[in-house]
Amino acid sequence: MSDWIVSIDIGTSNVCALIGKVNKYSQIEIAGRGIAPCSGLKKGVIVDIDSTAASIRKAVEEAEADANMRIDSAYVNIHGMHVNVVNNKSWMSLNGREISREDLENILRDVRDIEIPEDRQLIDVIPRQFIIDGYDEITDPVGMVGTRLEVDADMLVGKITSVQNIIRSMERADIKLDGIVAEAFAGAEICLSVDERDIGAVLLDVGGSVTDVSVFQGRRLVFYDSIPVGGDHVTNDIAIGLRISNTEAEKIKRQFELALTSLIKNDQEISVLDINENKKKNVKVSEVVEIIEARVYEIFSLCKGLLDRAGISIPKEGNVVMTGAGISYVDGCKQLAQEVFELPVRVTQAGQIQGVLKPEFVAAAGMIRYIASVKKGGSRASEIKLKKQEKQKNEESLFERIINFFKKIF
Ligand SMILES: Nc1ncnc2c1ncn2[C@@H]1O[C@H](COP(=O)(O)OP(=O)(O)OP(=O)(O)O)[C@@H](O)[C@H]1O
Ligand SMILES: [Mg+2]
Repeated sequence: MSDWIVSIDIGTSNVCALIGKVNKYSQIEIAGRGIAPCSGLKKGVIVDIDSTAASIRKAVEEAEADANMRIDSAYVNIHGMHVNVVNNKSWMSLNGREISREDLENILRDVRDIEIPEDRQLIDVIPRQFIIDGYDEITDPVGMVGTRLEVDADMLVGKITSVQNIIRSMERADIKLDGIVAEAFAGAEICLSVDERDIGAVLLDVGGSVTDVSVFQGRRLVFYDSIPVGGDHVTNDIAIGLRISNTEAEKIKRQFELALTSLIKNDQEISVLDINENKKKNVKVSEVVEIIEARVYEIFSLCKGLLDRAGISIPKEGNVVMTGAGISYVDGCKQLAQEVFELPVRVTQAGQIQGVLKPEFVAAAGMIRYIASVKKGGSRASEIKLKKQEKQKNEESLFERIINFFKKIF
C-alpha cells in the first residue's frame, strides 16, 4: 500500500474515492475507483455528518473492492468557500554562515506564525521558494552560504466548522485523515498545464451546488473562491420553468446535454409530466435548452463578477479551463464561457486523463497528482496531521516533505 495515495472528493452530488499513484513516467495509475451519491452536503457545506460518512464509506469500499486492497487513511478535498490562501514570508539573518537543516526548520516554523481569525485554523503550509541574498527560486538552501535567508509560503487557512465537519465525517467513516487538500491545487495539478499556470488561467469547477473559481498566474494561486451555484440549479430551473419534478428535470438535462439553443439540430417535442396538473404535456427541446443556457450563462457571469470585484485580470494569452460534472457533459458551455470571459476556453477531457474515465473523478485524480508532487510516493501530512505529529516530536517529516516538494516543483 506504501506508494498508493487515496483521495476522497466529498461533493454535494457524489463522494468519489480513488486509489492511485503517479508512476516514474509522471503518469497517473488508478488501481481502484468508487463513487457513491451524497446527500449530506448543502451548498457545499457538510450538514449531516452521518450521511456524509456513510457515502464516504460506500465510495471507499467500492474503490477497495475495485483495487482489491484495504485502505485505512485518505486525503480529502475542501472547497474554496471554506478556505483562504494567505501568503506569508519570513526571514532570518545568517551572518555569512552555512545554512543548516535546523535553520530551515526554524524559518519554516516562523512562517507559519500568522494571525488567524478565531473561526479559522491552519490547514497546510505550502512553501513556494527560498531566497538567499536576493537570489530566488531556491529549492533546497541547506549547505548554501549567505547573509539573509527568506522563505515565501502559502498558508491554507480553513473555517474551523468546515474543517471539523470533514474530520468528523472521516472519523465516523472510520478512515484516518492524511490531510486536507484545497480543490484549487488539486484541480490545477490535473487540469492546467505548467504554461497555463504561468501565463494565467482561470479554473472553473462546476459541481452540483458549488462552482469553485481559482486563478493561477506566475505558477501561483492568486485567487480562490466559490459561488454557491452549480449544475443542480440548472436542474431546478428546468423543474420550475416546465413545472415538472426534479427527477424528470435531471433526466431531461442528461438526455440532451446541451446549453446552447443554436446547437439544437432537431427541435422536436418531448412529453413531460406537469406536476401541477398531473397530466402529460409536450415541450420543445428549445424550451429546455433556453433554460439551461440562461442559468449556465449566469453561473459564468457570477464567476466573472467575482474576479472583476477582486481586480483580477487575465492576460489575453491566458485561458479559461472548465471541469466538474456540472458542465463537462454539456455542449455549448465552452461558447457561453468564451462570451462571458472573452478568453479562449477549454473543457478538461476526463477521458484523456489516464485511468480517470469520468468527469466526476477528475478532482480526486488531481488530488493524487498534487499529493504525489508534494511528497514523492508517500503520505504527505498536512497541518491537521502535523499537529499530532508535533506532539510526538516528529519534526523531520515536515522538513522532508518540504524538501521533497521543492524537488518536484522546480
Ligand atoms: N450527463 C450529464 N449531463 C448534464 N449534467 C450532468 C450529467 N451528469 C452529471 N451532471 C450534473 O453534474 C452535477 C454534479 O457535478 P459533480 O459530480 O462535479 O458535483 P460534486 O463534486 O458532487 O458537487 P460539488 O462540487 O458542488 O460539491 C449535478 O448537477 C449533475 O446534474
Ligand atoms: Mg466537486
